[in-house]
Amino acid sequence: MQKKTIRFGEAAVQFYFDGNLRQLKTLADQKRAVVLTDENVFAAHGSKLKGWNTIVLKAGEAFKIQATVDSVITQLIDMGIGRDGMLIGIGGGVITDLTGYIAAIYLRGVAAAFVPTTLLAMVDAAIGGKNGIDVGPYKNMVGTITQPAFILYDHTLLKTLPESEWRSGFAEVIKHAAIKDAPMFRDLESKDPAYFMKKPSALAALVQRNALLKAKVVAADVFESGLRRTLNFGHTLGHALENQYELTHGEAIALGMCYAADLSSELTGFAHTERLENLLQQYGLPTQAQFDNKKVMQVMRGDKKKAGDGVRFILLEKIGKAIVQQVPFEQIEATL
Ligand SMILES: NC(=O)c1ccc[n+]([C@@H]2O[C@H](COP(=O)([O-])OP(=O)(O)OC[C@H]3O[C@@H](n4cnc5c(N)ncnc54)[C@H](O)[C@@H]3O)[C@@H](O)[C@H]2O)c1
Repeated sequence: MQKKTIRFGEAAVQFYFDGNLRQLKTLADQKRAVVLTDENVFAAHGSKLKGWNTIVLKAGEAFKIQATVDSVITQLIDMGIGRDGMLIGIGGGVITDLTGYIAAIYLRGVAAAFVPTTLLAMVDAAIGGKNGIDVGPYKNMVGTITQPAFILYDHTLLKTLPESEWRSGFAEVIKHAAIKDAPMFRDLESKDPAYFMKKPSALAALVQRNALLKAKVVAADVFESGLRRTLNFGHTLGHALENQYELTHGEAIALGMCYAADLSSELTGFAHTERLENLLQQYGLPTQAQFDNKKVMQVMRGDKKKAGDGVRFILLEKIGKAIVQQVPFEQIEATL
């Protein structure tokens, strides 16, 4: 297990790379901790959770809602979990978002920790302290920014991950490369998903590179007043599509990135939309979709990044360099 400490403002987060779920016992007190996980993760890895107080939630984005929060809080009260308790989210981004949020508000705040079990959660969702729940079609409308005490990485958990979820994780990896890491973009172009799925050392290196890239961006701007916004590349349209259509987070973000690249070519002269689309396709992600513009525009108008009569959009100047620019709704609609 390799330990790296990263400071996010006041908070220090321990990243344990190349670890194992069984090592959780050495990091948290089983008597005071409660594991939150979902039914799929529990079915695949529950045998490794013997001895832990565990709450198993229904799986999926549809359950990242207030009703789930209320139900977990009632169970925590029944279990007698006090302020010295810890909530450990073992799952994908839905579980880490829910766990972080419940830990931030239960008894006005107890400790949280994560063991991400999807590629997406390993490289993105578990990092940075953002947490929260959806409200109707509006993603992550309610939440806090509160850092976990630690994140434990166990790549062997990915062995049971469905292929569609691998693709979803690669969407965020490609996003990181597009906004901040041109050499990684080129490296990804020369490989494919099967390469990383078959080669544990390459996967571990890719996960660590992405986790540290995100951590660095967040550490420089914990409360998202500047640089951190670039991590939202592809997310404005992506979020508007995700809860209205049957798309995984990664598929929605992939479509959002293609749209943002088109918008970039109009506004910044970005010249590599085709390269981005080719890379997304190489990793099994969609680059085109048909949807109801009116419905999507309505959700985008309610986006958290809304400012005045437009949205702060993340655009690319070139591969590896993103900028934030206010784009009027009129132009957003015209390009759709
Ligand atoms: N907080 C943040 O900064 C941040 C960043 C990116 C995404 N997110 C959020 O993350 C969520 C998406 O995360 P996700 O893609 O991990 O989705 P998810 O948590 O729904 O997991 C995807 C599916 O994979 C299953 N699963 C998870 N791990 C498994 C394993 N090891 N083996 C078998 N099945 C497994 C889950 O049960 C689920 O069905 C969204 O809600 C998104 O908003 C948050």
